[in-house]
Amino acid sequence: MHVTQRKTALITFVLRLENSGEQRCRMRRHFRLLEKFALVCIGTLGLVYIFSHNSPSEPIDVVSREEGQPVSLPDLVAVRTEKPKHTPTCRENTSVSSLPTFAVQPQNVKDFLRYKHCRDFNLIQNVPRKCGGPENSHNVFLLLVIKSDPFNHDRRDMVRRTWGKERRFQGVQIKRVFITALSPNEHEQAKLNRVLELENRQHRDILQWDFLDTFFNLTLKQFKLLQWLDIYCPKAQFIFNGDDDVFANSDNMVEYLQGMEAGQKGGQHLYVGHLIAGVGPIRERWSKYYIPEVVTTSQSYPPYAGGGGILMSRHTASVIYSVAREIEVFPIDDVFLGMCLEKAGLAPKSHMGFRTAGVWVPSPKDDSFNPCYYRELLLVHRFRPYELLLMWEAVHNSSLRCARSPLRVALPQT
Ligand SMILES: *[C@@H]1O[C@H](CO)[C@@H](O)[C@H](O)[C@H]1NC(C)=O
Ligand SMILES: *[C@@H]1O[C@H](CO)[C@@H](O)[C@H](O)[C@H]1NC(C)=O
Ligand SMILES: *[C@@H]1O[C@H](CO)[C@@H](O)[C@H](O)[C@H]1NC(C)=O
Repeated sequence: MHVTQRKTALITFVLRLENSGEQRCRMRRHFRLLEKFALVCIGTLGLVYIFSHNSPSEPIDVVSREEGQPVSLPDLVAVRTEKPKHTPTCRENTSVSSLPTFAVQPQNVKDFLRYKHCRDFNLIQNVPRKCGGPENSHNVFLLLVIKSDPFNHDRRDMVRRTWGKERRFQGVQIKRVFITALSPNEHEQAKLNRVLELENRQHRDILQWDFLDTFFNLTLKQFKLLQWLDIYCPKAQFIFNGDDDVFANSDNMVEYLQGMEAGQKGGQHLYVGHLIAGVGPIRERWSKYYIPEVVTTSQSYPPYAGGGGILMSRHTASVIYSVAREIEVFPIDDVFLGMCLEKAGLAPKSHMGFRTAGVWVPSPKDDSFNPCYYRELLLVHRFRPYELLLMWEAVHNSSLRCARSPLRVALPQT
């Protein structure tokens, strides 16, 4: 019997005993006391029974469940008891502990140093035919690749409904895929794996690898994506690579890409976004971007495009992949891509339409939420899921009348 059924049966049983107890109200008092005592005993035993059968020590195999079966509550209960997965294939480099200052580094820096040589990870969720197979992948004009933490189910849902909608636009094909890994939250990991599995069954848009989805593993995510593209989708013309909390105007991106020199398609170098140049590693420990000397002694980063949203051609993606295989990973993903570009002798380009700095948070009450402003942009960082919906609806409202702005996206900035 399922756990819930067991619980229901037990509760029903107790209620019935209580009812029958009331019917016999004229019976002698000591008998009723005896009955109450029995009830308490039964109840206690029942609770002990329930808890013992819900205990995490009982292994319940749910991984082997067949495709297409409906999900029932007992399955979800069981998922919670599943042990988090760790990748056994790559061993930690224990000799890093002798590096200077290693002992005083924050945990994420230590983990990075211990595991940075590991690149062989498996796909738990895949969509091998996303681009119609490698030989037909040239039919995909723009592949939207969205970096998403497993936890961000609501953001993925909103992206699917708005700018990430798979569709034909201006005669070309737009496709979408989310890139995820394993939640580092041990208590949630199994549940989130199941959520991603369900999402993938419904939407066919999840890639998930079996490494921990942490900030310093984003580079690994990018590397595995480049590898995936090489295998499953080598000819998609252009790739947008961004976060799940951005407002990416995918219509504008298509117009911008089509407006470039006729016939260029994805065969030439293209790498545009919010250009960041003349910066270097942050040495303050409190920062999310803290990079100590033990990771790099270099004082500067090559020019790179902010990771909130980058538009690149298939040519550039494949060049980056060939370089990325050769160089050591760097824990900040957009900087790492910049390093690959530099090594390949290519440069990122700035585009005014990318606003990834996230300096302000647009609010519906604020003038900065003016849809005319967003209609002209390619990308803006930091939107709440409902704001994505409002903005996507607003910029597509045919009664929206906007003055022409100097930010016209069809004119790439040089
Ligand atoms: C392990 O770390 C040491 C110290 O940084 C390094 O010299 C060595 O090459 C690393 N080994 C691997 C397999 O990456
Ligand atoms: C990256 O993922 C690997 C594999 O799950 C893990 O061992 C490592 O600690 C992670 N690195 C960081 C910096 O979180
Ligand atoms: C379009 O915008 C107008 C004016 O702001 C508004 O009245 C209308 O409801 C909107 N239409 C849709 C479909 O959202």
